[in-house]
Amino acid sequence: MSSIGQRFSRLASNPKLLVSVLASVASIGLALNYSAPQYPIYNQGGKTFTNGDEWIDLKLIKSIDLTKDTKHLYFELKDKDDVSGLITASLLLTKFVTPKGSNVIRPYTPVSDLEQKGVIEFVVKKYEGGKMSSHIHDLKPNDTLSFKGPIVKWKWEPNQFKQISLIGGGTGITPLYQLVDEITKNPKDNTKIDLFYGSLTEEDILLKKELDAIASKHNQLKIHYFVDKATPTWKGETGYISKEFLSKALPGPSADTKVFVCGPPGLYKAVSGPKVSPSDQGDLTGVLADLGYAKENVFKF
Ligand SMILES: Cc1cc2nc3c(=O)[nH]c(=O)nc-3n(C[C@H](O)[C@H](O)[C@H](O)COP(=O)(O)OP(=O)(O)OC[C@H]3O[C@@H](n4cnc5c(N)ncnc54)[C@H](O)[C@@H]3O)c2cc1C
Ligand SMILES: *[C@@H]1O[C@H](CO)[C@@H](O)[C@H](O)[C@H]1NC(C)=O
Ligand SMILES: *[C@@H]1O[C@H](CO)[C@@H](O)[C@H](O)[C@H]1NC(C)=O
Repeated sequence: MSSIGQRFSRLASNPKLLVSVLASVASIGLALNYSAPQYPIYNQGGKTFTNGDEWIDLKLIKSIDLTKDTKHLYFELKDKDDVSGLITASLLLTKFVTPKGSNVIRPYTPVSDLEQKGVIEFVVKKYEGGKMSSHIHDLKPNDTLSFKGPIVKWKWEPNQFKQISLIGGGTGITPLYQLVDEITKNPKDNTKIDLFYGSLTEEDILLKKELDAIASKHNQLKIHYFVDKATPTWKGETGYISKEFLSKALPGPSADTKVFVCGPPGLYKAVSGPKVSPSDQGDLTGVLADLGYAKENVFKF
């Protein structure tokens, strides 16, 4: 908007030019039945998702195997100049209709930078017999999937806390990754981040290349990987993310810090207690409660 304003103020110093530009904008507007404010005078690119109630079909560009059961999928946004329209941390709903006519709807969290134009990316794990995850894994390039949203889970503000601890397992890394990306790419955001990320084996660690690249460039991010089954060459932690480890590694509860948790049911149960519903965080139990954390110190994605 400001660049349009600047251009108009420049034009305004030349009245004849201003009149002719306004007249041509107005006549284009009439011919196409667009009202003037909506007419894109400069092609700035829009947002594909604006929290409307409509389902938007996006075309799959490619899907890549990340692990034996997880794919990285790239979908085309409505316009190549569009951004997704999401803020950190948000998700989208996906939908497909079964041959019998019932709707299958599930939430997924994009992992692409939210300012990326033209393309939105997801990491999706396939569950045995899983309706949506099997459907998504079977999509071929040029197939479409319906999306709706966004749904904001946690609205991040720069320097919202001095330090945050992210505790995740498996595909639960996806909203945590959005936070890591958002914070580290903003030079004015000095939030320190400790990521504790559990996976089955080293090969199952999702987005490891991306995470390691960010950590090597940004001191503010420290990553602690955990695997259930380690190989002899594994340099990270072995076993579950434990109370013993967290008691030493977490800064302790305070208003300057926050813990974000996302993972499979077992991880919630052990670390924070489960969420009751999308709108009810439930009581804080588990390791974090044992370590003196209170409900308001923790957010469960
Ligand atoms: C806020 C939010 C964000 C999410 N973001 C992502 C994401 O970025 N990437 C991603 O891959 N998934 C994500 N999920 C999970 C996703 O929405 C689906 O629940 C998942 O893909 C399974 O759906 P499905 O239809 O394939 O399985 P369903 O048909 O619903 O379930 C089939 C069987 O799969 C097993 N199963 C399903 N979900 C799980 C689970 N979480 N842990 C263990 N077993 C399970 C169960 O045995 C279940 O009976 C997110 C979930 C939430 C709530
Ligand atoms: C523009 O709107 C007018 C009145 O609403 C309508 O009669 C006309 O057909 C429309 N023109 C176009 C090109 O849609
Ligand atoms: C997808 O569509 C494009 C353009 O319509 C076409 O060139 C390409 O071959 C298609 N790819 C597949 C795998 O069908």
